[in-house]
Amino acid sequence: MIYFSGTPLIETERLILRKLEMSDVQKVYDHWLSDERVSDNRVSAPHQNISETVERMAEIVGNYAKKDFCWWGIELKTDYDLIGEIDLYNFDKDTENCEVSYSLGYNWWNQGYGTEALKAVVEFSFRYMNVHKISAAHNIDNPASGKVMRKAGMEKEVIIKHMIRNAKKEYKDCAVYGILQTDYLRENVNAPTSILKLEMDITINLEEDN
Ligand SMILES: CC(C)(COP(=O)(O)OP(=O)(O)OC[C@H]1O[C@@H](n2cnc3c(N)ncnc32)[C@H](O)[C@@H]1OP(=O)(O)O)[C@@H](O)C(=O)NCCC(=O)NCCS
Repeated sequence: MIYFSGTPLIETERLILRKLEMSDVQKVYDHWLSDERVSDNRVSAPHQNISETVERMAEIVGNYAKKDFCWWGIELKTDYDLIGEIDLYNFDKDTENCEVSYSLGYNWWNQGYGTEALKAVVEFSFRYMNVHKISAAHNIDNPASGKVMRKAGMEKEVIIKHMIRNAKKEYKDCAVYGILQTDYLRENVNAPTSILKLEMDITINLEEDN
């Protein structure tokens, strides 16, 4: 069974993963959602106007009321700047599997932040939520994302041709990666934690969940 506890605050060496707030809208728009360099590697088109970001953020913030909604803003500990987002989605009740997705603002690429955030979310999913398997896919012309997945312990399983069609109507071949909880726990039994602090709003009630 997956133990959902919403989107708890997770602190890593250099980052705070936290819920997004409506007051973050300008940074979310400026730092990644309006930037074609980021959206070119995703499915959605870049936002042309901040009102699109307001609408998207209202949806995200509204979803925090749900226990099974896991969507973190990625904040730097040094100056509290908001540099990206990472989320777990497509939770499957039968398999107890889910998917992960992430984006960072262009100014913060190639400094290890994507890897640091993904490692923490993978650890949280397996050690605290009891997720069975995490999958992710990246366009094969976006190798940096595959590198991040491998550095977080995920393995490439398959390439799917024309798996997505982006906002420019281009089909993209994608590499699909995955990691099993059993493999993660076995391989990380003595590994240091990437989670320095974890603040849950909800206490998991195992009796209620059973
Ligand atoms: C993918 C993304 C999250 C990576 O985040 P990041 O913080 O830059 O990642 P990291 O710095 O932790 O690691 C990136 C790695 O890719 C490598 N890399 C960067 N560009 C590369 C390229 N063109 N080819 C091969 N490797 C590349 C870097 O050298 C680094 O590896 P290293 O640590 O061994 O040097 C970020 O680029 C991003 O947000 N891109 C746009 C949105 C996106 O692609 N999201 C993922 C969709 S699947």
